[in-house]
Amino acid sequence: MADAKTTDRMEKTVSLCKRRGFIFQSSEIYGGINGFWDYGPLGAELKRNVKDLWWRTMVHDREDVVGLEATIIMHPQIWKASGHVDTFADLMRECPVCKKRYRADQVEPRSGRVYKCLGAAGTDAKGPSRIEFPFETIVPKGKPPIESGKERAKKFYSALKLSAAEPFGETISEEVSNSVDFCSDPTCGGKLSAARPFNLMFKTYVGPVADEENVAYLRPETAQAIFAQFKNVLETSRQKVPFGIAQVGKAFRNEVTPRNFTFRSREFEQMELEFFIRPDEAIEAIYGSVAKPGIGHPGEPQPNWGWEMWHKYWVEERVRFYESIGLPRTTLEEYWQKPEELAHYARATVDILFKFPFGTQELEGIAARSDFDLSQHERFSGNSMGVFDDELRAAWAKLDEGRKKELADRYSQARYKYLTKSGVALEPAAKEAKEDAEGLAKGQYIPHVIEPSAGVDRLILALICNAYAEDQAPDEKGSMESRVVLRFHPRIAPIKVAIFPLLKNRPELVSKAKQVRDLLRPLMTVFYDDGGAIGRRYRRQDEAGTPFGVTVDFDTLGEKGPELQDTVTLRERDSMKQERVKISELTRVLQEKLR
Ligand code: GAP
Repeated sequence: MADAKTTDRMEKTVSLCKRRGFIFQSSEIYGGINGFWDYGPLGAELKRNVKDLWWRTMVHDREDVVGLEATIIMHPQIWKASGHVDTFADLMRECPVCKKRYRADQVEPRSGRVYKCLGAAGTDAKGPSRIEFPFETIVPKGKPPIESGKERAKKFYSALKLSAAEPFGETISEEVSNSVDFCSDPTCGGKLSAARPFNLMFKTYVGPVADEENVAYLRPETAQAIFAQFKNVLETSRQKVPFGIAQVGKAFRNEVTPRNFTFRSREFEQMELEFFIRPDEAIEAIYGSVAKPGIGHPGEPQPNWGWEMWHKYWVEERVRFYESIGLPRTTLEEYWQKPEELAHYARATVDILFKFPFGTQELEGIAARSDFDLSQHERFSGNSMGVFDDELRAAWAKLDEGRKKELADRYSQARYKYLTKSGVALEPAAKEAKEDAEGLAKGQYIPHVIEPSAGVDRLILALICNAYAEDQAPDEKGSMESRVVLRFHPRIAPIKVAIFPLLKNRPELVSKAKQVRDLLRPLMTVFYDDGGAIGRRYRRQDEAGTPFGVTVDFDTLGEKGPELQDTVTLRERDSMKQERVKISELTRVLQEKLR
């Protein structure tokens, strides 16, 4: 529960975001639209910096990752194959009196029990497997537990008769719902309707006829385009497994309860990497064994890494990224999902959580998704998603018969499990799994994938929350006054340096300050400000998170002697320290500080 202090801090942060032009409510002049947000001038720069740094780290600084920019609307079969059409849903209840809708997992029944959906660290149900998460019953102190979370979940789901095959939008009867729990609207007391799976994808129609034939969806994640274009990218990029495809772009989810400012929005951006790797059996055939992860970062990627090492590597790389843009490790938590929380195809999922003022919540998920996604697209599209690996074929030929059998059996079992879980009947699944193992022996397999998937907007919110500080600073006369400051890392700061002529009515100062502005502008974002007392101008830039301020004064003009001529005052936002720097050295000094 957020206390008054954290609520106050969040309110101040939200108000600063609006006041300084970081984030505005979408369509505000018409009363706004819930779950949609616009980024103002400072927010747009901040967002751009964060996405550029992610792209530089994940794509440009590496040999083994390439980029993709796909469309938002894709063939609807993509969402059938991914599981989103059938299972990307929240359970929802409606109050017949006030018409409010609630996520079933967030309803507080009159009985006094509160239950919540266990997604990431008990915070957030997610992914195509959203409705598969177990419910937990939290019993208020002093009250006996009525039933365990597991029993409750079992009852809940069996009552709802949920399965992937069932159509969405089907309402269970009042009777069945009532046998599960008794819920009433927390505000008006109206009896909530039966729980109903509510698909989170935004539907639209392609072309002039709005019928079922022309249904399409706004993508709920950027990842699926990467899988759908896997073969094209592989064939055109001169990459081979292991390698990754990265994408940054908009995603849309018709969230039942958008909340916590931009944290859960209906339109947001994702930065996703799908990193394709060899199955462990291929690594074992080539290198004898797979390397096992230890503690900490596993170092530079090695050819004998299996999924566990790659997964650990990406978790550590992502934490390093957050540190590099100013989120200290102490503000983050890693949550390793428990086996019972994992989607059926996932081998491991780690959520990177940030300590927001309203609670510790997910920023990014890093999932080891096996070969599920590419296999699904192979089955649904009829196009092969397999690769040929000549190193594997050569290594396999040299294995003894016992080892061949052991690896082939293990591979075949994994494929059988995938096929049967995906709805293929037992007999054809066994036949196909055997054929897949024969393919492996010839050097063919469907790559497995590790997926680091981050939300841009959540990260922006985390960066703003983390940067927000209040302290004391001297005004022009040297008396202390309180200031609000955003302590952004210089790398992400929307404006890198502000240029101030000491007085705006002295043309020599103004002209020199503009020369300095023009010198720096091609290299960094600068803001020229000649309005008001210098202390006020500093305060404004502190609130904008500008890490450096450059003041052009009479010393710059050489009025106090030649030794200070063509020097400026460089002020550092956090320490408020000031140093004298030659204009001729300013670019180098600032570029070093911005690195
Ligand atoms: N492809 C995997 C995937 O989409 P996810 O956990 O559903 O996984 C990944 O989403 C990230 O996208 C989350 O960690 C979060 O940062 C962001 N995200 C998801 N839903 C969001 C929402 N409604 N509003 C803002 N960000 C969201």
